[in-house]
Amino acid sequence: MKSDPIILAIESSCDDTGAAVLRGRKVLSNVVAGQSVHEKYGGIVPELASRSHQQNIVPVVHQALEKAGIKKEDIDAIAFTKGPGLLGSLLVGSSFAKAFSMAINKPLIEINHMEAHILAHFIEGDAAPEFPFICLTVSGGHTQLVKVSAPDQFQIIGETIDDAAGEAFDKIAKIMNFPFPGGPMIDKLSKEGIADKFSFAHPKVPGLNFSFSGLKTSVLYFLKKEIAKNPNFIEENKVDLAASVQKTIIDILMKQLRIAAQQNNISQIAIAGGVSANSGLRAALKAESEWTTFIPKFEYCTDNAAMIGIAAYYKFMKGEFTDQASKASARLEM
Ligand code: KG4
Ligand code: ZN
Repeated sequence: MKSDPIILAIESSCDDTGAAVLRGRKVLSNVVAGQSVHEKYGGIVPELASRSHQQNIVPVVHQALEKAGIKKEDIDAIAFTKGPGLLGSLLVGSSFAKAFSMAINKPLIEINHMEAHILAHFIEGDAAPEFPFICLTVSGGHTQLVKVSAPDQFQIIGETIDDAAGEAFDKIAKIMNFPFPGGPMIDKLSKEGIADKFSFAHPKVPGLNFSFSGLKTSVLYFLKKEIAKNPNFIEENKVDLAASVQKTIIDILMKQLRIAAQQNNISQIAIAGGVSANSGLRAALKAESEWTTFIPKFEYCTDNAAMIGIAAYYKFMKGEFTDQASKASARLEM
């Protein structure tokens, strides 16, 4: 088996169209086209997402190959996100990858998006975690505590029973009339706010699971009550509101992460997914002096194809390929 395969990876699970080229574990190019079309709707519109993927995918792949200085003939395999995600979005990436694989007569590799978020830590560059480690994967669709024992051994030890952490950021931001996606906006405003100004109750959930829908509801009722007294309440308090909400979400995440680390006697701790771009969460992790912590580079936190490429690298080395019969799966399990 070739030791440093060249892999073209495609990511299209949600609203970002990504293409990356890797040589072994090294990223040669990583191109992402976001979709501003959803902003005015305050959330992702699946129909529009798949249409935008269709428009973006050819130019994004072209750019990724060009930036990497790689010709089609040099590619050893094509990887794509099989799921989980929006079905219409996944179909664009998987169909493109299948057609490309057939055209250049090179094998296909199917990748689980959530595993890829975690494996982003193994992209050549910074130090990678040692096995076993615990990863808190926090994105717009998922919130999971995963015990990772090998590049292909993932055990979910806790997850959200309702909304994901990213969803909580986005939904609460929407209640406060912040633009979509709300996570980055709350993060930005938080930097100037007082995090202890407002307090919101923590959920009571068994084991290592999470819950965020109660927080969303309590913020909603709190704001309704305050706005009845002062219609400008949000505008006048937005930085403190943002900081308080962000702190609550981080406290909920960190509490379960600490219990998971303790119960499993593991001190190699990583975070992954879009919410791992959050400055407060990154700082909270770094402050844990008993752990060796791993925080992805910003470009590998939110959805990107480089993470699909690194996950594909491990499958390539084991000869794990798929074929034209592979089906995109919106609810793919780890
Ligand atoms: O992993 P990702 O790009 O897509 C999914 O697979 O869902 O995650 C997107 C989520 C969104 O909810 C977005 O608001 C959140 O990540 N996010 C953030 C930040 N950057 C992105 N949340 C909080 N703070 C940030 N800086
Ligand atoms: Zn993601």
